[in-house]
Amino acid sequence: MRNNTHNARFLASIHVMATTHRPREWDATTYDSLPLPHQRWGRGVLASLPLRGDERVLDVGAGTGRDTAALLERLPRGHVVAVDGSTAMLAQLRNRLAGVGPDRLTTLHTDLTAPLALALEEPVDAVFSVATLHWIPDHGSLFRSLAGVLRPGGLLRAEWGGAGNVANVEAVLVDLGLPRIGEACNFATADQTAERLAASGFTDIDVVCVPDPVRMESGAQFEAFLASVVLSAVLDSIPVGQRRQAVRAVAARLPERQVDYQRLQASARPAA
Ligand SMILES: C[S@@+](CC[C@H](N)C(=O)[O-])C[C@H]1O[C@@H](n2cnc3c(N)ncnc32)[C@H](O)[C@@H]1O
Repeated sequence: MRNNTHNARFLASIHVMATTHRPREWDATTYDSLPLPHQRWGRGVLASLPLRGDERVLDVGAGTGRDTAALLERLPRGHVVAVDGSTAMLAQLRNRLAGVGPDRLTTLHTDLTAPLALALEEPVDAVFSVATLHWIPDHGSLFRSLAGVLRPGGLLRAEWGGAGNVANVEAVLVDLGLPRIGEACNFATADQTAERLAASGFTDIDVVCVPDPVRMESGAQFEAFLASVVLSAVLDSIPVGQRRQAVRAVAARLPERQVDYQRLQASARPAA
């Protein structure tokens, strides 16, 4: 009770700041140290991607390069273009893949809100993406950008947060009077996504949205997961000195240490 009163007083004192334009920075070291569901999501998308081994594949929002490394293993005669807007995430990726030559890997520091065709030298056979597309506000222009870099007959396989994503955390944020994650992210339904893909130059579209609740083992791990991943956009708008307490206040209201993810899984081809 005393803690709750204290939290309420503290949260009432938080001055929520306006955030700057995306792409935001990420804590790449903490990101790679956590047992994130992203690892499983990445394996799932990769397993669904049919590859001969000589293709050119675009990893959209490649982050620290975990999936980029796995993609390269599937492409012994191919090439991966890894694109991300975070300097820290890309530095970690370049470090992880330091032994891979420019004939196999291109890394690009690019804002995905701009057309990718401007940054890429040649089209790709496949677009792969994990846990990234909800960060882009305008999905119409994003999907046109992705269709614009795919060769005819190419393939898009991606997963990202959909409608109702992290709803249990959003409810706590509303309760505490903090900004919602959905204010910074685009959590669309499967139907909206399929319509936007069709209107943006894709065909053979298949989109589903599946619930995927994720639990963390310990309280410390849960707080690190909230701070560096789930609440990262929310914390951008809270003064640095108050972020830890805000994370603790959210964690205290989620005693099961669970985040209720809803994941969109999409497959599509560029229309001829
Ligand atoms: C949750 S991480 C996912 C990283 C990786 N795909 C994985 O599954 O581990 C989201 C990534 O999207 C990138 N991102 C978000 N918005 C972006 C933008 N506007 N332009 C470029 N990259 C962006 C972030 O920098 C971050 O690396």
